[in-house]
Amino acid sequence: MPQKGTCKFEECTRLRVAVIAAGVVGKATGTGLAAKGHNIVFYDLDLAKMAQLGLEGYGTASSIREAVDLSSITMICAPTPTVNGSVDTKALLSISAEVGNALREKPRYHLVVVRSTIPPGVTRGQVIPQIELSSQSKIGPNIGVCHNPEFLREKFALHDFLHPGAVVIGEGDETAGDKLESLYSSFGSPIARCSLETAEMIKYTSNLFNAAKISFFNEIDQACRAVGVNSEEVSKLMPQLALGLRDDLKEWGIYGGRPFAGMCLPKDLEAFISFMKTKGTDLPLLSAVKQVNDRVGNEKKAPMVLVNA
Ligand SMILES: NC(=O)c1ccc[n+]([C@@H]2O[C@H](COP(=O)([O-])OP(=O)(O)OC[C@H]3O[C@@H](n4cnc5c(N)ncnc54)[C@H](O)[C@@H]3O)[C@@H](O)[C@H]2O)c1
Repeated sequence: MPQKGTCKFEECTRLRVAVIAAGVVGKATGTGLAAKGHNIVFYDLDLAKMAQLGLEGYGTASSIREAVDLSSITMICAPTPTVNGSVDTKALLSISAEVGNALREKPRYHLVVVRSTIPPGVTRGQVIPQIELSSQSKIGPNIGVCHNPEFLREKFALHDFLHPGAVVIGEGDETAGDKLESLYSSFGSPIARCSLETAEMIKYTSNLFNAAKISFFNEIDQACRAVGVNSEEVSKLMPQLALGLRDDLKEWGIYGGRPFAGMCLPKDLEAFISFMKTKGTDLPLLSAVKQVNDRVGNEKKAPMVLVNA
């Protein structure tokens, strides 16, 4: 993996970027990159959003083709809602098709960056074939593709875009990754370069962890209430005590493939689930934790043992 700051596009400090779909992520991406000195042009179907961006002094285009023509990088921030339990990629693919059409005649290298949250395999299996079909050229020499997931919170969208914990660059090839790295060169954040699928998976893993963490502490809150304990007093000590939340042990327990074992975790988990049953409180998440651990245990890998707990 190339180190930050060694890519061949480093000299390009001011890049021309089209941002397609100016919702929460698109607006933060475009306004944030403009604040970093890049030249931005927005396109969105929603004319009111476009008018507002124009009033705020940002460049807008009247079509995807115009936006692509004016830029060397196109960032697609299309919505990918969950419809009937599945990810709806219609908007993403229809934008990809229009971007591909616009690239058909473009003589110079152009990078297409997918910022939407999509399951592993969608960029390679759906977006790239769509762009290749409509541009009538293969991804590689003239067109690059990256997946660059976003981790912002809606309330702090611009701030979070400008101060990422890490910039994740899933690259179709090295040239595409270099070009995208040059766009983020002034951010001063760690840059992680990986495959398209790894980038897509990193985004889901982060969201799923956040969801599971919130549900874990909600389940603890319910257990606390059932036994008359103030859960805030319990929770606020976890960053000092729980492995994995402690600053010095942040990576504890994050690498998969090994079940937990040893003197304490299996026995305490089982005992607490049964104890809470006697109080009339089910612990569905912790019960699932036991099921997952049993399943991983059956794969017969060396267990993780928590010594002296
Ligand atoms: N909102 C968040 O906090 C957040 C954070 C990280 C990642 N994401 C992901 O980023 C993606 C975008 O999410 P969002 O919250 O910005 O969506 P959003 O609903 O805020 O905005 C989507 C925008 O896309 C526009 N649009 C829809 N179809 C279009 C088309 N064919 N052409 C042009 N514009 C079109 C809409 O008018 C709208 O302005 C999703 O995949 C989402 O999961 C969202």
